[in-house]
Order: sequence, then structure tokens, then C-alpha cells
Amino acid sequence: MALNRALIWGALALTTVLSRCGGEDIVADHIAAYGVCFSQSYSPSGQYTHEFDGDEEFYVDLEKRETVWQLPMFSEVRGFDPQSGLTTVATARYNLDLLIKSSNSTAAINEVPEVTVFPKAPVELGQPNTLICAVDNIFPPVINISWLSNGHSVTQGVSETSFLSKSDDSFLKISYLTFLPSADDVYDCKVEHWGLDQPLLKHWEPEIPAPMSELTETVVCALGLAVGLVGIVTGTVFIIQGLRPGGASRHQGPL
Ligand SMILES: *[C@@H]1O[C@H](CO)[C@@H](O)[C@H](O)[C@H]1NC(C)=O
Ligand SMILES: *[C@@H]1O[C@H](CO)[C@@H](O)[C@H](O)[C@H]1NC(C)=O
Repeated sequence: MALNRALIWGALALTTVLSRCGGEDIVADHIAAYGVCFSQSYSPSGQYTHEFDGDEEFYVDLEKRETVWQLPMFSEVRGFDPQSGLTTVATARYNLDLLIKSSNSTAAINEVPEVTVFPKAPVELGQPNTLICAVDNIFPPVINISWLSNGHSVTQGVSETSFLSKSDDSFLKISYLTFLPSADDVYDCKVEHWGLDQPLLKHWEPEIPAPMSELTETVVCALGLAVGLVGIVTGTVFIIQGLRPGGASRHQGPL
């Protein structure tokens, strides 16, 4: 089934099929990862998603046992039985227990996550916008990403993706904060992960061109005036020279 879909999505023939839990299909022009899943002994205990070109289509809510679409638009095109995701995660869980035993409970190595914060659209004061906190190189997929505004925790207008798969087996997770840019508000994306000694705060504030100080304004004004005056004086001198009888011809030719 997954292969069929991959062929539908990617028109090109060059197809590599990778298989993790369910089956991940990589096609030349587009990457459809249908059935990305993991299971771990930490929280969250597992995850099952379908991705297309790096974007999350949906995840299966393991508690509520339902499919949650990132863009409701997708759910109108096709459906997905959450049971198949639950079964896949359960299989992964079974394999995990075997691996834990065979590795004598060797814990995963914590990677150091990379955090980037940027606005979705060019910032204009008073224009609603979205701040994006992209956390890359996440492993293991156990993380807290939160937002601070002027040092205080914000929860309203916050949403985040599931763990998005990377080719190096680490994960990417993106958190969003809708906000109204103002000259007074600064923001931090706060990341907690075992790969960090302490929570990492990635700061962001709107770049507003610094207003000119009064002194600068006066200097610029005075310089402009001086240049203008010099221009007028030199211009006048040239005009007078040009008007003087014989003044112009003196330069032009021999007597
Ligand atoms: C497994 O781990 C335990 C506790 O860390 C240790 O005592 C034991 O020797 C280990 N066994 C093997 C086969 O490495
Ligand atoms: C995330 O937050 C919870 C609740 O505050 C905490 O128990 C947990 O240790 C945090 N996770 C990490 C990776 O710091």
C-alpha cells in the first residue's frame, strides 16, 4: 500500500524504499515517509506519523487512538485508520524490549539539539505574525519546547509539530507562537533536553531601525545646510565669471 502511494506521489521511477517501523518510501522528486514511528522507554513512549516532503500530514494520538491531521485539508482527501498506527507502534515496542535486553539496557546517547528562532513573515510592528522555533538534531526524542515573552511563560497561541524524521535518525521539531510585533516585546524559545546542561534560551526581538538621536539630526541638518550654501556660493562665482565680458572666451581659444 505504501509503495503504491509512493508511486502515485512521485512520478519518477527512481525509487529507494527504506523500511523503519512501517515502511518509509523515498522518491527522487518528493519524499513520502508513510509510517515513521518510534518507540522508547521515555515519554513520549512512541509516535506514528505520515510525512510528505518533510511536512507532517498527521500523527496517531496513542492515548485517544485517533488520527490527528496537521492540515484538515488532507483529511478531506484521504482517511487513515489509527489502528494500523497503533499496531505498528506496538510492534516497535516489542522489538524495543528485545533490544533493551540484548544491549543490557544501554541507554541512548544524548545529542545536543540546535535551536533557531525566526519570524514567518517580514516583521512589521502591529502586523500579526508567527515566531518559529526550529529545534534540529534531537535525540532521543524527549524534549520540552516552550516560549517566554519578556521573561514570562506564554502558552496562548503556541502549537508544535510531532517529531519529524531526519535521514541521520535524529529528529526535528518545530514550535510556533503567534504574536503581535511591538517595539517593547522580546521573546525566547526555551528548550529542555538531556543533551543540554541547562535549558537553552534562544532570544529573539524585532529589529527596529534605531531612531536618530537629536544630536545626529542637528549635525546632519547643519552639514546639509553647509553643503547647500557652498554649492550656492560656488555656483554664483561660476555664473559671474561666465557673464564677465571675455571671461568665457579667454578659456576657449587664442586671442
Ligand atoms: C549488564 O549490566 C549490569 C549492570 O550494569 C552488569 O552488572 C552486567 O555485568 C552487565 N552484563 C553484561 C553481559 O555486560
Ligand atoms: C520537561 O518538563 C517536565 C515537566 O516540567 C519535566 O518533568 C521533564 O524532566 C522535562 N524534560 C526534559 C527533557 O527536561
